[in-house]
Amino acid sequence: MTAEMPKHYWANMPEATLIPGLVAGAGRRAEAMRALPADAAPRFAGKAARKPRPSQVLATEIAALRAEASACTLCALHSAATQTVFGEGPEDARLVFVGEQPGDQEDLAGRPFVGPAGQLLDRALADAGIARSEAYLTNAVKHFKYEPRGKRRIHKKPNAGEVRACRWWLEKELDTLKPAFIVALGATAAQALSGRPVSVLRERGPTSFGGIPGYFTIHPSYLLRLPEEADKNAEFQRFVEDLKAIAHVFVTRQAAEAARETAARESQSLALIRQRT
Ligand code: URA
Repeated sequence: MTAEMPKHYWANMPEATLIPGLVAGAGRRAEAMRALPADAAPRFAGKAARKPRPSQVLATEIAALRAEASACTLCALHSAATQTVFGEGPEDARLVFVGEQPGDQEDLAGRPFVGPAGQLLDRALADAGIARSEAYLTNAVKHFKYEPRGKRRIHKKPNAGEVRACRWWLEKELDTLKPAFIVALGATAAQALSGRPVSVLRERGPTSFGGIPGYFTIHPSYLLRLPEEADKNAEFQRFVEDLKAIAHVFVTRQAAEAARETAARESQSLALIRQRT
């Protein structure tokens, strides 16, 4: 196990909680095996029903990716940042938000969107009726890029090479999560997801990323930078309208998906009934 993953990451693995019990019971199980006749039927035959559910499998995959990314050196940003800030949210989330990169507070906390921009995003999500706890939030770049200025660390935009290097992790996250809808928050996320420069103010609205429906909108930090209070309020409302549109499309698609699944199940049952009669 230590060859696969250093011991200090074990605590992050959901299955790690099973290890003490397995170790404690190993002797007993070995004795019981030894006591069995050599030709006894395998005892695991009846346990097929305990296969992990898909979300448990995903949880393991995302946790493994997070552990792997914690040692990432794909670009130079790792050397000045406190830690990798990986995505966060339910591993079976259907809705994914992608931001630019962690900020000062995210870098210290090790969690995305917990600083001022994150708090603004939380307010806008709540106004739009989207539960943050049901979405997966991540960033195009997983390390904080900054310039030291006295005691402060001033945010610096990641360059194209850094975004390209980090796209490896973003693609892994999306391949694992298989979301139904992806929201690009700001130009860096939009470029990382679409592979081309995007002006989100011009292209704001529905789009798709590799066949997955998505949406270009502003980054919440854009609101923080607006000097006039009136503009801030008006732009915040526009942002909430975007999120409401996303929620509407997303909920409609989920309902259509559920209806398609129910119809498929019903036609399967009908086919079975016809076969039997
Ligand atoms: N800005 C981002 O793009 N991501 C964060 O996690 C925080 C601020």
